[in-house]
Amino acid sequence: MGDFQVSREYLTFEGMRVPANVHTVESLTYAWKEFVTRDDDVFNVTFPKSGTTWMQEILTLIYSNGDPTSVKTEYSWDRVPWIEQYTGRSKLENRPSPRLITTHLPFNLFPQSFFKTNAKIIYTIRNPKDVCVSMYFFSLIAQFLEYREDFQEFVSLFLSKDMSYAGWFDHVKGWLSFKDNPNFLLLTYEDMAKDLKSNVIKICQFLGKELDDAAINSVVENSSFKAMKDNEMSNYSAVPDYIFSKAKGAFHRKGISGDWKNYFTPEREREFDKIYQDLMTDVNLQFA
Ligand code: A3P
Repeated sequence: MGDFQVSREYLTFEGMRVPANVHTVESLTYAWKEFVTRDDDVFNVTFPKSGTTWMQEILTLIYSNGDPTSVKTEYSWDRVPWIEQYTGRSKLENRPSPRLITTHLPFNLFPQSFFKTNAKIIYTIRNPKDVCVSMYFFSLIAQFLEYREDFQEFVSLFLSKDMSYAGWFDHVKGWLSFKDNPNFLLLTYEDMAKDLKSNVIKICQFLGKELDDAAINSVVENSSFKAMKDNEMSNYSAVPDYIFSKAKGAFHRKGISGDWKNYFTPEREREFDKIYQDLMTDVNLQFA
């Protein structure tokens, strides 16, 4: 690939900033206005760095009844593609049902056709301070993301209006406004990290999938941090260096909760907490 560089440019769509390398106005308009949702579609919705890839693995494994062949032979981004990216239309349009679909779209830009169907959404939330740390390290690796070398400066970017996908706060508040809908399942990264099996069972119940205990155990085993870190189909090692610089780190970094404590200064923690309290007043959501 020589000296080829991807750019760290962003585009703004309906007030939302997103990296310009994989999104276009056409692809975002398609996802929002043209995509025809089917009743048996399943959406994996997250703010970035909240467990997106993890849920892609879990859903694939649930729909294969725990058989790991698919997660070991097909890339995660092909199995559970992003609807809003420029490849969304071609990957999803003629795909047989049930389609497993990933998105980082905020509630207000989600496919409008969804709301006339019986399709399902799983929304995974993660402690925003851990999301911020995870995104900081990922933006060093991913050559198409805006980054700040200094972590404390990155925190300011994370808290600013410039944050991608509407920013963590608006993303979470927007989606939580939908939480009482029966076709919406709310999960947290922290709960999944504590007890993956009971969360897999919860997901199966929500989706009406009846897996026996051996199949459930296989889902849990094959979607563990270690299994995914070692799985070339899910660990992004296949992405060329000019896009994901492997010299700067791995996609599967630590996979733990509470790593933020190693990076936030007391001052930045106070600033973050104050903004959290001001913006999340109506939301009953606390993180350790
Ligand atoms: P860290 O950077 O904190 O390690 P996303 O898929 O939304 O981009 O999120 C990436 C984050 O999820 C990374 O967090 C990554 O390590 C973590 N992750 C991916 N697979 C995981 C798994 N099976 N178990 C726990 N964490 C996982």
